[in-house]
Amino acid sequence: MRRIKINNAEPGMVLGKTIYGYNYEVLLNRGVVLTNAYIKLLKNRGFIRIYIDDEETEDIVLEDPISDKIRIMSTKDIFRTYKVTQSSIANIEADTAESIIKCINTPKVKQSFQESPAFKQLCNDINYFLDEIMNQDILSGLNSIKSFDNYTYEHSVDTAVIALIIAKRLRLDKEKLVQIAIGEFLHDIGKIFVDEKIINKPGKLTADEFKLIKLHTIYGYELLKDIHTIGVASAHIPYQHHERQDGTGYPRGLKGTNKLDSKGVTYTEHEKMILIAEIAALADVYDACSSDRPYRPGLPPDVVFELIRAGAGSQFNKELVDCFLGVVPKYPLGFEVKIKNGTYKDFTGVVASLNLCQLSKPKVRLLHDDKKNKISPIEIDLSSQGVTIEMECVS
Ligand SMILES: [Fe+2]
Ligand SMILES: [Fe+2]
Repeated sequence: MRRIKINNAEPGMVLGKTIYGYNYEVLLNRGVVLTNAYIKLLKNRGFIRIYIDDEETEDIVLEDPISDKIRIMSTKDIFRTYKVTQSSIANIEADTAESIIKCINTPKVKQSFQESPAFKQLCNDINYFLDEIMNQDILSGLNSIKSFDNYTYEHSVDTAVIALIIAKRLRLDKEKLVQIAIGEFLHDIGKIFVDEKIINKPGKLTADEFKLIKLHTIYGYELLKDIHTIGVASAHIPYQHHERQDGTGYPRGLKGTNKLDSKGVTYTEHEKMILIAEIAALADVYDACSSDRPYRPGLPPDVVFELIRAGAGSQFNKELVDCFLGVVPKYPLGFEVKIKNGTYKDFTGVVASLNLCQLSKPKVRLLHDDKKNKISPIEIDLSSQGVTIEMECVS
C-alpha cells in the first residue's frame, strides 16, 4: 500500500483504505477500483491524498495505531461533547475574557458538560483507546487523512495517539496515560468560546485576533479544572499546550526544564510546564504541521521531523524530543520519496520497510526514473554500509 496525491490517482487503481464522509458513513470501501467519477467525488469532497494498493507495493502494510472503529467512536464523542457545551452557552452574551470565564464557571455550563452522555461516553472510550495503543511501539508517521469539517475533533484524536505513544515509550504509569488521553481529547475545547470566524480564518491573523485565539487555553482550563472525572492535572493540558521551554509561549509564559526527570514539577508550581503538557505541546505541533488544511497542504514528514528537532530546547523539552525522534520515522512507511544524489538522482519510489534500529534509514523501493518513466523496482537499503543516499519526501 502507498499514499498518493489525489491528483495522481488514475482510474483502475485500487483503494487501500476506506474513506469516510462527513458523518463517518462509508464513502468508498477499501478494495474499490477507482473510476473517474469516484476520483471526481473525492476531489469535490476536499480530499488531497488517498491510499492505494498496487502490485509494486502490495507487501507494504500500513497500520493505523488505532482501529477505524475506535477512531470514529472517539471523534464522534469529542464532537458531541463540543456541541453540548456550545449549546449551553448559546444564549449567553459575554464579550470580555472575564465575563466568558465567569460564564464557563456557572453551574449551568459545568453541569451540562459534566453530565452529558457524550462526555461520559468519551471518558469511557479511553479504556478502548489505551488498549489499542498499548500494542504500538512506534508512530506510523502517517497522520490520519482529515476531513475539513471535522478537523478539530480528528486533530484531537491524532494528538492523543501521538502523545500516548510517546508516553508509553517513557513508561509513564496508567494514571498519567489516562490524564493524557482526556486532556488531549479536549485540549482545544476552549476554542468554542472564541468567535468561530476567527477560529476558521484561513489567512494570517491580526494581532488582536491572535490575542483572542490565545484565550482558548485559559477557557479550556476553566471548563475542565474542577470536573472530578478529569482531574486538575489533565486540565493543565489545555492550559499549557502552547507554552514553550524558553518561556515565549502562552498564556502564562511558563518555562520548561528541558529534562524528562522533572519529578519536582507539579501543576501547582506556577512557573514550570508539567511533563504531560510538554508531551501535548509536541504532539500538537507535529500533527498540525503534518495535516492538510483547506488553505495549505500538510508539510512532508521529513520537514516536520526537522522542525521538531530544530525546536528542541527552545520550543520543546530537549530530552522529550530525543525520545520522540526515536518513535517517529523521518520517512514513513508507504510514503513517496525522491532521491537527491548519486546514480539514482531524481528517481522516485516508496519507503518499503523501516529499520527499527535506525528509523531514519529505511529500505526504499524505486519505481520511477528521473524522467518519471516506470522502471522495474530497485530496492536500496539506506542502512547498508557505504550507502550515502540522501532523499526527501514528496509532498
Ligand atoms: Fe490549541
Ligand atoms: Fe491543537
